Amino acid sequence: MNNLRNINVRGKRVLVRCDLNGPFGPDGKVEDDFRIRKSIPTLEYLRNNGAKIIIISHLGRPKGKDLTFSLRPVAKRLWELFQGNVKFVNDTIGRGVEKEIKAMKEGEVIVLENLRFYDEEKENDDKFSKSLARLADIFVQDGFGVCHRAHASMVGVTKYLPSYPGMLLEDELRVLSNSLITPDRPLVSIIGGAKVSTKTRVVERLLDKSDYLLLGGKIANSLLVAKGICIKDSLSQDEENLMEVVKGINLTSPKLHLPIDGMMGLANFEEEYSRVGAVGTLRREEGIYDIGPETIEKYKAILSEAKTIIWNGPLGLFEKPPFDKGTIEIAKMIGQINSKVFSVVGGGETVELIQKLGIENQFDHISTGGGAMLDFMAGKELPGIVALEESSKKKNNDED
Ligand code: 3PG
Ligand code: MG
Repeated sequence: MNNLRNINVRGKRVLVRCDLNGPFGPDGKVEDDFRIRKSIPTLEYLRNNGAKIIIISHLGRPKGKDLTFSLRPVAKRLWELFQGNVKFVNDTIGRGVEKEIKAMKEGEVIVLENLRFYDEEKENDDKFSKSLARLADIFVQDGFGVCHRAHASMVGVTKYLPSYPGMLLEDELRVLSNSLITPDRPLVSIIGGAKVSTKTRVVERLLDKSDYLLLGGKIANSLLVAKGICIKDSLSQDEENLMEVVKGINLTSPKLHLPIDGMMGLANFEEEYSRVGAVGTLRREEGIYDIGPETIEKYKAILSEAKTIIWNGPLGLFEKPPFDKGTIEIAKMIGQINSKVFSVVGGGETVELIQKLGIENQFDHISTGGGAMLDFMAGKELPGIVALEESSKKKNNDED
């Protein structure tokens, strides 16, 4: 891929695609600035080298122009982190925006309005991509968290501008691929969270790459059903043809570790109820909402041997105590052994919990990618990355 450090950006208009998407309150206030902070190194580099910086991002999933999804509060947070020199412009493309950019001086930063106020963004519309490209001389892709989306600001725009990866993107790709392809072993992977159909590919690939794969959350429940250990009713109504969905996963692999006990709750949560029990004792009216104490101990013992750990997704329904215990204990344990292990963690919910526990600095790499990290680990092509590679190839051919 092209290298941003090899070009002179002074006085150039640089369009930077960041992923500044994150939770925000009803008043639009930024509730978590993790991704905003992670975007700073590239922006700082460009500012120190005299570029005119034009930031584009999406926020949430608005339907049309809905100002509750405005990037204005995000621009304000950036202004604080940058100590001034950040201006918000309330549109994304067009004459007004171009006029603002024309007036920019070296080192100045503007943040444009939410890309998704235009449906054309998600449609990877060619005209919209061109309108974005008109704003700048150079494009920098730093939105790793959106690289699994084939949108205009991820793909289309790279056809019309010389395109470079930003520092966050480079860092994510380097760390994630090193930990998967050339890790210090044993490599222990942990996958939790959503239902199995969204995670089969990543489970298959991690079973291949890891020395141990530990599962929790809904995905573990589905595999317990598939193995005939748990009754089907309460656990996997959402997997209609479960056996078909899991057919690529080697259910008898010695590397695959499923919960042996769980924290059971009532499937409808009508009353407060919880019970620790072996997974095989699950009753019809119950669901497994967290890994149980024996599983926690077993997983900890495996993790204590690890040299590399990759983790994505909570191990239980962590927003609803007491079903948060497994995720919290595993997070704390990984934090405690940080000095002797290389730890990589990602996924919005997992990162949120780690921040809440105040142990963010006890992990070696916290990925800004949720879906993007999973797709990368599953070995899928990320459209945002493919577009950058193609743009680099084109540039090099043009130069030959
Ligand atoms: C994310 O939060 O996963 C990214 O910002 C992508 O957002 P999306 O899932 O709405 O495309
Ligand atoms: Mg470490």
